[in-house]
Amino acid sequence: MRKKLAAGNWKMNGTAAALEEVTALAGAHPRPVADILICPPATLIDRMAAVAKGTAIALGGQDCHAAHTGAHTGDIAAHMLADAGATHVILGHSERRTDHGETDADVRAKTLAALDAGLVAVVCVGETEGQRDAGETLNVIGTQLAGSLPDEGVTGATVVVAYEPVWAIGTGRVPTIEQIAEVHDFMRAELAKRFGDVAEGIRLLYGGSVKPANAAEIFATSNVDGALVGGASLKAVDFSAIISALEVA
Ligand code: PGA
Repeated sequence: MRKKLAAGNWKMNGTAAALEEVTALAGAHPRPVADILICPPATLIDRMAAVAKGTAIALGGQDCHAAHTGAHTGDIAAHMLADAGATHVILGHSERRTDHGETDADVRAKTLAALDAGLVAVVCVGETEGQRDAGETLNVIGTQLAGSLPDEGVTGATVVVAYEPVWAIGTGRVPTIEQIAEVHDFMRAELAKRFGDVAEGIRLLYGGSVKPANAAEIFATSNVDGALVGGASLKAVDFSAIISALEVA
């Protein structure tokens, strides 16, 4: 049985004032049935860890470097995120792939670094609108999955996969339930081919314009074990409603 996971991706949003959202969220979910994860900007992880201490909220980074240390101005190593209080890290988000030219090979190297540091890697895949229109969705997802996940160390406890159609991120547009189910069932089958029985334990999140209003329907979908939520994770009241929908799904 896979434990459900509600993950919030704050992206480049949030300063000290936003810490009160975490306090409010923790208050609303003292003993959650689902796992709750917030991935704030790296600048906030340390302080958020202090606020989240003793609560059920786990913290994650939004990216890490593949190397352990070195001359990489502006970058952060996986073990540094862990040192700051993170237990997870999002890798291969489409905004990283687009803004920073990250390839599947980069994401795979970062995933290895994350696992090495004891972090759970939340590895993102997703097709563009053009790729979907061209009928390439499953090919794209299959290629990204194959290239972004390493051969070693992948288990239900170490890796989470997030399906995030690029055209659904921050747009208010959401795939149909059939489209989500098709990709999630496909990902489960691909993981099973490569990792065998271990695949059954790997949580598959949907991400892209998840809101309180559409969460219940998405969470009722085949092989959807939770969500990676951007905009609607910034306010405790919205994220809390999504968590509650996940818990009753
Ligand atoms: P969104 O972002 O919920 O704001 O669409 C999701 C994501 O990019 O993880």
